[in-house]
Amino acid sequence: MKRSFDAAARGARRPPEDVGGTVVEVGTNPAYEVSVGPGVLADVAGFVGGAGARVAVLADARVAELHAHRLAGLERAPRLDVPPGEGSKSLARLGAVLDFLAEAELDRSSCLVTLGGGVPGDLGGLAASLFKRGIAVVHAPTTLLAMVDASVGGKTAINLAAGKNLAGTFHQPRAVFADTETLATLPEDELRSGFGEVVKAALVEGEPLLALVEESAGALVARDPDALERVVAACVRAKARVVADDPHERGPRRALNLGHTFAHGIERTAGYGAVPHGVAVAAGIGLALAAARALGILADDTLADRTGRLLEALGLPRDLTALRASSGLALPAADVARAMGHDKKGRVGAPELVLPARAGAIELGVPVEPAMLTRLLA
Ligand SMILES: NC(=O)c1ccc[n+]([C@@H]2O[C@H](COP(=O)([O-])OP(=O)(O)OC[C@H]3O[C@@H](n4cnc5c(N)ncnc54)[C@H](O)[C@@H]3O)[C@@H](O)[C@H]2O)c1
Repeated sequence: MKRSFDAAARGARRPPEDVGGTVVEVGTNPAYEVSVGPGVLADVAGFVGGAGARVAVLADARVAELHAHRLAGLERAPRLDVPPGEGSKSLARLGAVLDFLAEAELDRSSCLVTLGGGVPGDLGGLAASLFKRGIAVVHAPTTLLAMVDASVGGKTAINLAAGKNLAGTFHQPRAVFADTETLATLPEDELRSGFGEVVKAALVEGEPLLALVEESAGALVARDPDALERVVAACVRAKARVVADDPHERGPRRALNLGHTFAHGIERTAGYGAVPHGVAVAAGIGLALAAARALGILADDTLADRTGRLLEALGLPRDLTALRASSGLALPAADVARAMGHDKKGRVGAPELVLPARAGAIELGVPVEPAMLTRLLA
């Protein structure tokens, strides 16, 4: 089924200047706030500690070493550190987190705080949604990707042998605290990976976010704190609007998968972990623009070039050729096409794509023939 997502029709925009206080409300039911800015981790204890509620922390072990001290007032809270990386999103690790919550004697009025990137966020969110049929979770994202994407919207998941993110729930956090000071220690590759999701958010939202990201590109690469705060807050605002409209991803929220079907094909072909997710998304966005042009969907002739320049300014590949060159991986067209069409039983079919018509106007569920796909990926 083909549907479309038109950001302009989904509520009035605020210009980026209005981001101001950097507290963004996500209008789900119940609603919650995302605080963005330097030092906001110091506010977590005050938020979760009300009425003497018990609190536990689930942290990425590397991030805990670098940043746990910023959670002032939670030093004595029970904390479980998990190894960095996708391997922690496993059934075994989920079991360990649930046992930890039980040992910490959390009850249904308790709260789990996750500290780190999308990995502890997804794992902790899932554990919180299962433990005693659901306790509160507060996310403290420390990667750009988790700040602009993974920590907002309530999707949780672990990986199974059959594939990524195959077991999960929807469990909205009670609040999100995105402390932009933590980004100072983020490895270069991870920062770039976050930029991929920033560009996606800008294309889905349209103006003025796209213009803001363009004019901020140099400052973002230089990790200018003000630019990071403004762009993270603006991306969160854009995601919040989409999530509030469609919390369970039954329709328009699927626009946020722009570039992702291509990215999954690339990641699957390269072997998960070989190409950072947001870098694969960047190439996927370039491919989605090329596919939109080939299928006559792209209504704005300038968008492909404009986006390509923005991706390059952020140190990202604008297409598969650029990704092949920067990664040294062959990524054969037929393999990527096959990996994109894989369903969960390993059968190959024609994937349905999420393609841009203009910035802020995204077509959902566009079928594409395998032969055309292979040509696009050549
Ligand atoms: N739930 C959602 O809606 C959603 C959306 C997008 C992605 N995801 C998931 O998020 C995961 C990817 O998230 P990610 O990119 O944040 O990965 P991640 O959590 O694996 O973090 C990436 C790496 O950065 C390190 N790190 C994190 N913060 C740091 C900091 N401030 N300083 C130094 N090092 C730091 C970590 O130790 C890790 O090695 C994937 O599992 C993906 O499936 C979920």
